[in-house]
Amino acid sequence: MNETVLVVDFGAQYAQLIARRVREAHVFSEIVPSTITAAEVRKKAPGALILSGGPKSVYAVPAPTLDPEIYELGIPILGICYGAQLMAQQLGGDVANTGVGEYGRTTLTRHGPTVLMTNWPATTTAWMSHGDAIAKAPQGFVVTGSTPEAPVAVMEDVVRRLHAVQFHPEVAHTEHGQDLLVNFLHHVAVIAPTWTNSSIIEDQVAAIRQQVGTEKVLCALSGGVDSAVAAALVTKAVGAQLTCVFVDTGLMRKNEGDQIEETFTRQFGVDLIHVKAQDRFFSALEGVTDPEKKRKIIGELFIREFEEVARDLAKDGDGPRFLVQGTLYPDVIESGSGHAANIKSHHNVGGLPEDLSFELVEPLRTLFKDEVRRVGEELGLPSEIVWRQPFPGPGLGVRIIGEVTRERAEILRNADHVVVDEIKKAGLYRELWQSFAVLPAVRTVGVMGDGRTYAYPIIIRAVTSDDAMTADWARLPYEVIESIANRLIREVEGVNRVALDVTSKPPGTIEWE
Ligand code: XMP
Repeated sequence: MNETVLVVDFGAQYAQLIARRVREAHVFSEIVPSTITAAEVRKKAPGALILSGGPKSVYAVPAPTLDPEIYELGIPILGICYGAQLMAQQLGGDVANTGVGEYGRTTLTRHGPTVLMTNWPATTTAWMSHGDAIAKAPQGFVVTGSTPEAPVAVMEDVVRRLHAVQFHPEVAHTEHGQDLLVNFLHHVAVIAPTWTNSSIIEDQVAAIRQQVGTEKVLCALSGGVDSAVAAALVTKAVGAQLTCVFVDTGLMRKNEGDQIEETFTRQFGVDLIHVKAQDRFFSALEGVTDPEKKRKIIGELFIREFEEVARDLAKDGDGPRFLVQGTLYPDVIESGSGHAANIKSHHNVGGLPEDLSFELVEPLRTLFKDEVRRVGEELGLPSEIVWRQPFPGPGLGVRIIGEVTRERAEILRNADHVVVDEIKKAGLYRELWQSFAVLPAVRTVGVMGDGRTYAYPIIIRAVTSDDAMTADWARLPYEVIESIANRLIREVEGVNRVALDVTSKPPGTIEWE
């Protein structure tokens, strides 16, 4: 029996969240577009289907719909929100535009015997976000849950194994949401919970071995979690055939290069080429202040440095044929679904061009970021690497406003280290999306001891976010801001003032350039 769950995406950001929750229940999930046909579903032979929520009303023209033959395949289906209404409408029930929607927390009352809500209390809290509501369940369904504005909040047809919920079981605010998904996956669809970190590692190691055979493999380490976990997987699979390259641009975080070397050379015994290219980056950036030009220079030089290593390795005609990339599942969904280009399009700065003549090894292609982190931990990567906050490809280059020089990079690197260190001490590092220092291009007057100073301010930038598309400035406790500020002035030469960035995204971006 196939153990994959297909999450049919009706256009809400919830589809990814549902897919992640399914995996937390140790079942593999894959997101598919709502245009999928019954024939395509049959071919994939999933263990179950989940229809996601969506922003539209089933009465909108056009409204996304589902090939009705899919209901006839005998595959268990769970409809959520829009997916629930669509199921009701397509199978002969009624969906009403009541004019009274429900948004946020609501009380769900359970009725009678139910498979989805076995052993739940009579009432629980559920998270709703709907305008329309199912008014009448289709024939064959029993209504097993309701809320004040949704008489059919849960409906179940245990014979056909079709179930639907108006609320969102995938969000944390729904009290027993994960329970409901687990009941559906394990008890209705009877899918075994076999998707675990060890099974991911085992599968990927086997796939890598199968793909690369006895050929050599090259991997560019960036210091970030994705490339590190990808490299660690390849190490486990074919360590002796792997060469890693770390290009130090001079714009990395403090101790980043040493940490990479320590982990990959000493701990994993990998062949690591540490390219110390700082001088070349600083000379290429001399006198350049335009942000786009800086990005371009850094990106292009990075590629040139990498290509040189690749060419060197290929000199005797026995070079690497494969290149490891840390592509994640959200990148795959985004590039495959034809959604409009999003803000991440500029993120391949520092990435590698497609015309390098390598075949790609992408062991993280099916994984979400949280899974990558857990796999990384299981592979024995240090937690500083596994839990590292995102860092832009051009590195400190986009946080040094104006000209990038060796001296200014050193000031910012030291300042950044202080910010991160204090944030970690306060226990906030993992809950913040990013927290770092920015070095502006102005200097300000100050007094220190008996003397007047004329030095740089440092700006503290800390944000919360789920996906970097939007972000809120973090309300850091005053004591944390105070200790960061004190240490910056005391410990970082060249700094005499500290400011805090209180801009959200939009209108700001997370980075300053
Ligand atoms: P912005 O500044 O656009 O950044 O709000 C959103 C997220 O993307 C990261 N970022 C980059 N990542 N190459 C990358 O790999 C880049 O050129 C780049 N620019 C921004 C940024 O750190 C944030 O997490």
